Amino acid sequence: QTADSLYIINSFAQQFFSKQLFDTEEGQAVALSYLKERGFREDIIQKFQLGYSPRQRDAFTSEALKQQYNAELLTKTGIVAERNGELMDNYRERIIFPVHNNTGKIIGFGARIIGKKENAPKYINTPENEVYIKSKILYGTYFARQSIDKNDECLLVEGYTDVISLHQAGIENVVASGGTSLTPDQLRLIKKYSNNLTILYDGDAAGVKAAMRGLDLALEEGLNVHLVLIPDKEDPDSYVNKVGASGFIEFIKQNKKDVILFQLEVMLKDAGNDTTKKAAAVNIIAESISRINKVEDFTRQQDYIHKSAELLKIDEAGLHSLVNKFI
Ligand code: CTP
Ligand code: MN
Ligand code: MN
Ligand code: MN
Ligand code: MN
Repeated sequence: QTADSLYIINSFAQQFFSKQLFDTEEGQAVALSYLKERGFREDIIQKFQLGYSPRQRDAFTSEALKQQYNAELLTKTGIVAERNGELMDNYRERIIFPVHNNTGKIIGFGARIIGKKENAPKYINTPENEVYIKSKILYGTYFARQSIDKNDECLLVEGYTDVISLHQAGIENVVASGGTSLTPDQLRLIKKYSNNLTILYDGDAAGVKAAMRGLDLALEEGLNVHLVLIPDKEDPDSYVNKVGASGFIEFIKQNKKDVILFQLEVMLKDAGNDTTKKAAAVNIIAESISRINKVEDFTRQQDYIHKSAELLKIDEAGLHSLVNKFI
C-alpha cells in the first residue's frame, strides 16, 4: 500500500526532474551541459532517466502539493524535507540519478552536486523507507539483468557514473554497490543472476581493502570471485573515458585475477622472508579456502589448495589438512 504510493511519487518526481533537465534553460545550462562535458550521450542520459533538481527551494514540493500528493508520503521519499514546519525540496541544484528495482520501478534517488563545493555532501541518497532498503540495493540491476545472464558474469563497480559510462561503452553486465561495503543480501541478489562476480574497484589501498572485505562473504555465498584493480586515481568511468571501450575491455582481460590467489600474492609480498608472517598468511588462506562450500564446489576447493600450495611452496597435503581444520 505505502510501497505503491512511494513508487507513484517517485515516478512523478522522475518525470519532473527529467523535464527540468531537458526543457528548462536552467537545467540545460547548469546540468545538461555538465553531463555532456563529462562525456555522457543524450541517449544514455535518457535511458537511465537522469534529471535535474532546480535551484528554487520548493520547485518540486509546490508542484507535488498542487497535484494533491500526500505531504507525509512526500517526506518519506526523501525528495521533500520539512524544515521549521515548512515543506521544501531536499535536492537542489543537483543531478538526479533514479534508482530502479529489478522490475524497473523507481525506489529512490541519488542526487549529485554539480562541480565541487565545500561543506556539502557529493551525493545525497534516499533515506530508508518501505521500498528503499539500502542493504538490498544494487544500482543498475534492471538495466544489467539480460547482459549478466548472457555473459554469465556480473561486474561490480562503486558508483552510479561507473555503471552508466560502462553501458555507454557497450558493457552492460554491471551493477554498483553505492560505495558501501557489500552486504550478504546484495551478494545473494548477484547470485540469482550469475555465480561469477568480477569486482572492479579502485587500485588504491581503500579499493583493495574493500574488495578483500567482500571476499569471504562472497565465498560463503558460493560466488566465484575475480578482481580487477583500476589504475591509480581512476575509476571505471574516468578510465573508460580515457582509454575507450576496446581499451577498457582489453584492460579487464589482462588484469582479471582470481581473488583468493590475489589475496595470497598480496600477503606473500608483504611477508617477504618473515616466517611468522608467512605462517599467518598460510592460515588466512586456508581459512578463505575453507569457506568455499565443500559439497557444492569440491573440485574448486581442491584446485585452490593445489595452486596455493604451489605459490606458498608448501606441502599440498599439509595445506589440505589445515583447510579441513577450519571446516
Ligand atoms: N557515495 C555516496 N555518498 C557520498 C559519496 C559517494 O552515496 N557522499 C556513493 C555513490 O553511490 C557514488 C559511490 O559512492 O556513486 C562512489 O563514490 P565516488 O567514487 O566518490 O563517486 P563517483 O561515483 O565516482 O561519482 P563522480 O564520478 O560523479 O564523481
Ligand atoms: Mn578510491
Ligand atoms: Mn568513483
Ligand atoms: Mn567517478
Ligand atoms: Mn579463475
